[in-house]
Amino acid sequence: MSYFITTAIDYTNGSPHIGHAYEKVLADVLNRYRKQKGESSYFLTGVDQHGQKVQQTAEKEGVNPNTYVKRVTKGFSNAWEKLGLDYDGWAETTNPLHKECVQHILQKLYDEGAIYKKQYKGFYSIRQEQFLTDKERNENGEFGPEWGQVEERDEENYYFRLSDHVAWLKDFVANNDDFIIPAFRKTDVVNAIERAEGTDLCISRPKERLRWGIELPFDTDFVTFVWFDALINYISFAGYLKPEGSALPNFEELWPANLHIIGKDILVPSHSIYWPCMLKAMGFSDEQMPSLLVHGWWNIKSDDGSEKMSKSLGNVVDPVNLVEQFGADAVRYYLVRDIHTGRDSDYDIERLVMLFNTELANNLGNLCNRALNMTKRYCGGLTTESSFDDASCQELRASLEGCVAKYREHMDQHAPSHALEAVIGFITSANVFAEQHKPWEIAKDETKTEQVNAVLNHMVEVVAIASVLLKPFIPAACERIQTQLKAPQLAQLTLDQLQWGLIPTGHEVAKPKPVFPRIQLEKPE
Ligand code: MSP
Repeated sequence: MSYFITTAIDYTNGSPHIGHAYEKVLADVLNRYRKQKGESSYFLTGVDQHGQKVQQTAEKEGVNPNTYVKRVTKGFSNAWEKLGLDYDGWAETTNPLHKECVQHILQKLYDEGAIYKKQYKGFYSIRQEQFLTDKERNENGEFGPEWGQVEERDEENYYFRLSDHVAWLKDFVANNDDFIIPAFRKTDVVNAIERAEGTDLCISRPKERLRWGIELPFDTDFVTFVWFDALINYISFAGYLKPEGSALPNFEELWPANLHIIGKDILVPSHSIYWPCMLKAMGFSDEQMPSLLVHGWWNIKSDDGSEKMSKSLGNVVDPVNLVEQFGADAVRYYLVRDIHTGRDSDYDIERLVMLFNTELANNLGNLCNRALNMTKRYCGGLTTESSFDDASCQELRASLEGCVAKYREHMDQHAPSHALEAVIGFITSANVFAEQHKPWEIAKDETKTEQVNAVLNHMVEVVAIASVLLKPFIPAACERIQTQLKAPQLAQLTLDQLQWGLIPTGHEVAKPKPVFPRIQLEKPE
């Protein structure tokens, strides 16, 4: 069975920032990990190209929305390439196959009476592109700033009978602990379900107001609400209702075990209310509901603590600039190392540099450099058979099992920062082991050749193991390490095959080149 990982598709009315980048890197790391486990895994990401904001920005720029989204989409795919993301599927909501799927679903729901038309007079948030009810008013009876400009509208629209499914949803959420991860987010959902009771979802926008969307198949004076369109990407690009001969994947293979990775801001109402109710209306069973992995936000440190990253505050961090400055591995590593999945974190360039320098350059980089250099110098570049073995060697070998168990456990719980801690701990113990034995000193003593050989073999072996465990996080650096180890076969190794003895004795290693050159942060004048 395949594991299907998706991320929220990014709005094409902006450009990627490190918040978006974090979500994609997290998904990429989990996807690569699943593949390394020997499972078949599929990572889908992409862009959300319709909606009023896109139409407005394109109008402002005096270009056709299609031209505009093509350009902005390029900005996203370019950033993801720079970050070394290896996704299996790419979703663009202007894709005709997606449109067809959305229209098919709309028509079916309409034919079944799950969509109806009514006149509605109410308040509309332009920023959120939705009608508001009194439940959205704050304690002062007003629509808060999160709704942006709000105007009164009186218009006919189509509604999806969301209210038919709310009782089911309430039950489903209460009885399915893996629907929302982490569990502490469940309260937000339970509260939002209470608010949703008795209301249906407006899923159309009259064309005189919004043209840049997917037309309703049963009334071409309307396009569909951007969320109704966007959410369906998770199934349309997974092959749901795909036409014969299409290159899309097979839906039945992908859908059983799937995880939508989203930020906390889009948990309610879209992903935890609209989406499961839409799926339910389409005939999906409880077992076919996805899991939602809800991550926190990267914020920016400010004088008063931390603030949201936003264009208007001018504090947005561009991941492409970061990659150009520090390299993809440093950025990928930082983004999943310095945040605990589900929690927020403050972006801090000094921590990026510190984590790279201490955990990668000084720890793994140093171990790799020393191990290969000394193998060249003292053993002619060959790992050499040795009869030496003592408690410290045995302890280091024995610690592998615990490290891998912790690594797997944390990765399975979508907690890469903790998995990294386990690997870094293992590398640190190999450096401590090297300091204990000091092969650079004992190499001068001819009676200690066996010990030198054994110590170097152990160091080389830990480097090889680390290059496998860290591959999902920093794939390019691990490839460079494996090249220096002259062990390209490690790239294909599954986690089940990972055991002590990856590098046999008599194996020749290359001369090391620094894999993680230390980063010097230029101090502002
Ligand atoms: N287009 C919708 C999603 C539709 S999914 C069917 C959307 N797009 S977005 O561009 O605004 O956000 C894309 C993802 O980036 C969301 O999961 C959002 O939570 C995440 N992030 C946006 N800002 C973020 C941070 N500052 N930090 C971490 N993630 C952030 O919502």
